[in-house]
Amino acid sequence: MADMLLSTGVHDTIPSNYVRPENERPHLDHVIADANIPVVDFGASDKSQIISQIEKACRLYGFFQVVNHGIDAELVKKVLAITLEFFRLPPEEKAKLYSDDPAKKIRLSTSFNVRKETVHNWRDYLRLHCYPLEEFVPDWPSNPSSFNLPWDVVTRDVFGSYCKQVRQLGFRILGIISLSLGLEEEYLVRVLGEQEQHMAMNYYPKCPEPELTYGLPAHTDPNALTILLQDPHVSGLQVHKDGKWIAVDPKPNAFVINIGDQLQALSNGRYKSVWHRAVVNSNKERMSVASFLCPCNSVLISPPEKLIADGSPAVYRSYTYDEYYKKFWSRNLDQEHCLELFKRDRETCPDAPTFPCPDTPT
Ligand code: OGA
Ligand code: NI
Repeated sequence: MADMLLSTGVHDTIPSNYVRPENERPHLDHVIADANIPVVDFGASDKSQIISQIEKACRLYGFFQVVNHGIDAELVKKVLAITLEFFRLPPEEKAKLYSDDPAKKIRLSTSFNVRKETVHNWRDYLRLHCYPLEEFVPDWPSNPSSFNLPWDVVTRDVFGSYCKQVRQLGFRILGIISLSLGLEEEYLVRVLGEQEQHMAMNYYPKCPEPELTYGLPAHTDPNALTILLQDPHVSGLQVHKDGKWIAVDPKPNAFVINIGDQLQALSNGRYKSVWHRAVVNSNKERMSVASFLCPCNSVLISPPEKLIADGSPAVYRSYTYDEYYKKFWSRNLDQEHCLELFKRDRETCPDAPTFPCPDTPT
C-alpha cells in the first residue's frame, strides 16, 4: 500500500487514523525548551573528563550530544541533501521500494509498524542495512543516482563513507561507555559480537495538525547504541526526564547519542534506555538520519560479572538479541518498555514497578 506514504501527497487535514485520543497527545505547550542535554567534546585532550561526562550523561539522561566527533561536516551535508532528494522522488519511484514488512532489510515504509498499529505516525522512512556494506549496497535503491554506483565507487561515495565513519564513532563511544562502567575499553565491542548496523532515514512532512499526532510516539530504541543526525534547521526530538518532555534542538555539527535497550541490560540497569519521541510541525518538513548499532543476533545479552559481583543481582534474564528484536517488533511502539518483559523478578515478584510509556495513561 505505497499510497500510505505521506511524502507523496499534500495534506490539508490529517486523516482520522493519525489522530491520537485526547489523553495521548503531545501537549506541545508542556514541553521544556532545550535544557541541558549534556554536550561532550570529543576533541578534548582530557580523556578522563570525557569518561566522567559520559558516565553522568548515561546515568542521568540516557542521552548526550557529541561535537568534534571527527565525522566530516561536508559529508554530513551530503547525507542530508541526498535524503531530502530521495523523499522528493516521484510517487512511482517510491512505490517500487515500499514495503510494510519489518523483516525486510531494505525498505521504504511509513509510520512504525502499519500492520500492527491502529493509529499511524506522521513519518516516512527509508531503512537501509549497512553492515557488511558490500552485502547490502547492491540492494540499496538505485535512485537518486548517487545510490546507483558500482560497489567500488560507493565505498568512496557518500553513504558508504558515512556508514563507516558512524561505525567508527560508535565503537569509540562504546569504548568510553565501557570505561565509564569500570570495564576494559574493548568490553562492549567484544560482547556485542559482529555488530549489525542499519539506518533509518526519517522524513516527517509538514503536518497541518501537529498537536494531534506524532512523527514517532514515545519509544525506546531496541538496539545497543543510536547515533542520530538531526535536521540542522528543524526541531522535533524530545527526551523524557523526571516526568517531563525536553526538546533536544539541533546543535551545529553535533550528533545525538542514546543508550539503547541492550546497553541498559548490559549495564545491569545502571544506564537507561530512555523514552524519546519525535513531534511534527505545520511549518517545515523535518529529516533525521538514525544509525543503529545492534548486537550480533546470536550473542547472549547478559551483564558482566563485575557489575553483579557487588551485591546487585542481575536485573534481566539472559537472552539473545534475536529473541529480543522479534519481541520488540511484535508489539506497538508505545507500550511498556520492552526490557520489562525480560526482568528476572517479573516471575517472582509480579508487583514489581513497571515502566509504562509516559504518553499512554495506565
Ligand atoms: C528513531 C528516533 C528521532 C528523530 O529513529 O529511533 O528516535 O528525531 N528518531 O527522528
Ligand atoms: Ni528512537
